[in-house]
Amino acid sequence: MAGRFITFEGGEGAGKSTQIARLRRRFEASSQPVIATREPGGSPEAEKIRSFILSGKAKHLGPFAEALLFTAARIDHIDKTIAPAIESGTHVLCDRFSDSMKAYQGALGSIDRDVLDSLERIALRGLRPDMTFILDLPAEVGLSRAGERQASKGEGGDRFEQEDISFHRTLRDAFLAIAQAAPERCVVIDATQPPDEVEAAIWAALRERIPDLLGGEARHVDVA
Ligand code: TYD
Repeated sequence: MAGRFITFEGGEGAGKSTQIARLRRRFEASSQPVIATREPGGSPEAEKIRSFILSGKAKHLGPFAEALLFTAARIDHIDKTIAPAIESGTHVLCDRFSDSMKAYQGALGSIDRDVLDSLERIALRGLRPDMTFILDLPAEVGLSRAGERQASKGEGGDRFEQEDISFHRTLRDAFLAIAQAAPERCVVIDATQPPDEVEAAIWAALRERIPDLLGGEARHVDVA
């Protein structure tokens, strides 16, 4: 059976990586093959493009060129990592995917929705996440969480974390609009809740939407 493709989206500081690690452990605990990957990146060449974009060097090329770079990275990531895993029956948990391009590059303002849709079609070639979790929280909360994380690492924030608060508010609305337009794929999760509750909400939604995920009736796997 083909693996499932599950993506995690949301603004800064929403706790995607914590939740991906927890979900991965649940799959592993039930002996389900699983990989966790991320965008931009997730393959050796796409990781090179990631460093270039997040360093801020691509900003001077403008939002359209940035969107093309994200698209190039996505194509390599799909071809080298995501598609082979799914075909071999491995579940793929992906930290951001093409909804991030629609939200972020859309929120930067100057790119037509049609253009972003076309770039998405070019990159995905029919691939579509089975489920997308949108971890939702107010922009202020997310940015302050991301700020604490950077301060503890002694970092200054990447290209997009440095955008202003109104950008991050637009971003939140964009993710919610994406979820509203694709309710069969997207589930919005309140990411202001404690991590255990976010994890439980994600797990409950997965069991409901993909009941055969763990083979037959989904089993409860207690990995706390
Ligand atoms: P990352 O450190 O992975 O961010 P986070 O921890 O918030 O997930 O950096 C990825 C950044 O790239 C993030 O700010 C979102 C942005 N991005 C886009 O602008 N477009 C895209 O298509 C993708 C995948 C990410």
